[in-house]
Amino acid sequence: MRLLRSLVLGLAFPATLASQTIPGPEYAARRDSLAARIDSGVVVAFGGRAPVGPDRFLQLPAFRYLTGFLEPDAAFVMVVRPGGSRATLFTSERDPRRALYDGFPPDSAAVARQTGIAARRIGALPAHLDSLAGTGLPFYTLRDFANADAAQTDSLTRGASFMHRFADRHPGLTIRDAHPTLDSLRTRKSPAEQAMLRRAIDLTVEALREVMRMLRPGMWEYEVEAMFQSAFRRGGGDGPAFVSIIGSGPNSTQYHYNANDRRIGKGEVVVMDVGAGYGGYAADVTRTLPANGRFSAEQRAIYRIVREAQAAAEKVARPGAPFEAWREAAREAVARGVARLGLTESVDATFDPPWAEQCQTNPVACTQAFLYMAHGLGHGIGLEVHDRPHPWYGAGTFQAGDVFTIEPGIYVSRKLLEILPDTPKNRAMIAKVRPAVERYHDIGVRIEDDYLITDRGIDWLSRAPREMAEIEAEMARPRDAASR
Ligand code: GLY
Ligand code: MN
Ligand code: MN
Repeated sequence: MRLLRSLVLGLAFPATLASQTIPGPEYAARRDSLAARIDSGVVVAFGGRAPVGPDRFLQLPAFRYLTGFLEPDAAFVMVVRPGGSRATLFTSERDPRRALYDGFPPDSAAVARQTGIAARRIGALPAHLDSLAGTGLPFYTLRDFANADAAQTDSLTRGASFMHRFADRHPGLTIRDAHPTLDSLRTRKSPAEQAMLRRAIDLTVEALREVMRMLRPGMWEYEVEAMFQSAFRRGGGDGPAFVSIIGSGPNSTQYHYNANDRRIGKGEVVVMDVGAGYGGYAADVTRTLPANGRFSAEQRAIYRIVREAQAAAEKVARPGAPFEAWREAAREAVARGVARLGLTESVDATFDPPWAEQCQTNPVACTQAFLYMAHGLGHGIGLEVHDRPHPWYGAGTFQAGDVFTIEPGIYVSRKLLEILPDTPKNRAMIAKVRPAVERYHDIGVRIEDDYLITDRGIDWLSRAPREMAEIEAEMARPRDAASR
C-alpha cells in the first residue's frame, strides 16, 4: 500500500506545486474555464505574502486553485480575449542572504516548467497592468483573503490596496469581482480534488479514533488538541486545516470555542471539531465524547436528537435536492426533540430573541428551538474549510461533485436564558423551560460529517465511530491499540 502510494505520488508534479495529486493539466483547465466564463478581460489574483511572524507560509486558496504555485509574494495575471488567453505569473526575488533562511525561489524557467505559466519578476507588475489598462478590457480581481468568511473585512490587504491605487491612476476603468465566477468553478470537486479531500478526511477519522481511545477525565483540552496535531502531521497532512475546537463542559456549548485551555472533568461531554489539511484541502469533522467513556442519560437524550437531525438531513441530500428542504428536515428534528425534553414550550413556539431584527428575513430565528442551534447546518469543504457550496442559507440545489458537511448541534446552557430580553413572552417561556435547561445545563453536542454528492445519491466520507454505542466501544478499547 505504501509502495503504491509512493508510486502514485512519484508520478505527480514537483513538490513545489500545490497538491501533489492535482495534475498540472487540471490547473490549466481551471484557467481555461475561468477564461471561458469571462470571455474578455484581465484577471488579477494576488498570492499570499511571506509571513511576517513565525507562521509557516500558506498559499491563498483562489490563487492556489488557478496556479498551484506555492511561493509567497506572487501575482497572477491572465489576459482573456475571445481568441485565447495569456497568463503570466509575477514572482518575487529573494535576497541571497535571506534565501539561506527561506530557500532559493525557483527561477522563471523552473516556474514555467512547473506551472505551465510564463514567469516574470514581480517588479514588472505595475507597468504591465498600466499597459493593459489602455486596452479597454475590464479587470477582474481575486482578492487576497485566506478565507471568504473574511471577505467583508478585507480592506487593507495588499491586493486591495494595490487595486485601489491602480484604479485611482486609471479613472473610468471597469474593475469587477472575479470571486463569484471562480467560486462557481470551485463548487463541484473534480475526481482529483475528491481524492485530496478523502485523504484529509481519512487522516481526520484515524485521529478521532486514536483520541477516542486516549481520552480520560483530568486531561487538558490542549493535550487533546496536541494529539490531533501530531496525528495529522504523522499521517503526512499539512496539519490542522483550522484551529481545533476542543470544548469540554461549559465550553461544549460555545460553537467556535478554541482556547482549549481547560481541564476536562468527569461526567462532561467534549466537543471535538477538527480537520486535517492535505495538499491545501480541508476536512471538517466533529465528534462529541463523554469524558469518562459512557454517556449519561441527559447526554444521551441530547445526542439522540442531534443524530436524528443529521440523519434526516442525510436522507434529503441528493442531486437536485433543494437546500431549503435539507435545512428544514434537520430543523424539524431539532424542534421536535427539544420540545420533547421541555427545552421549549412546544414544537413551533416562538420567543423574543436578542436578534429580533433577523426574524424579518428568517422567521425560524424567532422560534424557541433556534435558541439551541443558532448556526448553519453545513457548508462545502475544499481549499477553504467553508468552501462552496454554502447551503446553510439561500436557495439552491445539491449537485454531483459537492463535498460538504452536515453538522447539527444542540447546546444547552443557563446563559441562554440570561441573554433573553425581558419581555412578557420571554418571562412566560423561561418559567416553563428553566427546569429542563437546568437539567441539561452545559451539555453541548455537535455531530459533523463530510459527504460527497454522487450521481446516485450521497456518500458518507467521514466514517469515524458516530453512534453512541460505537463511540463507547471505541473508548473502551485498550489505549495501546491507539499506537498501532
Ligand atoms: N469547524 C468549523 C465548522 O464546523 O464550520
Ligand atoms: Mn467543524
Ligand atoms: Mn463545519
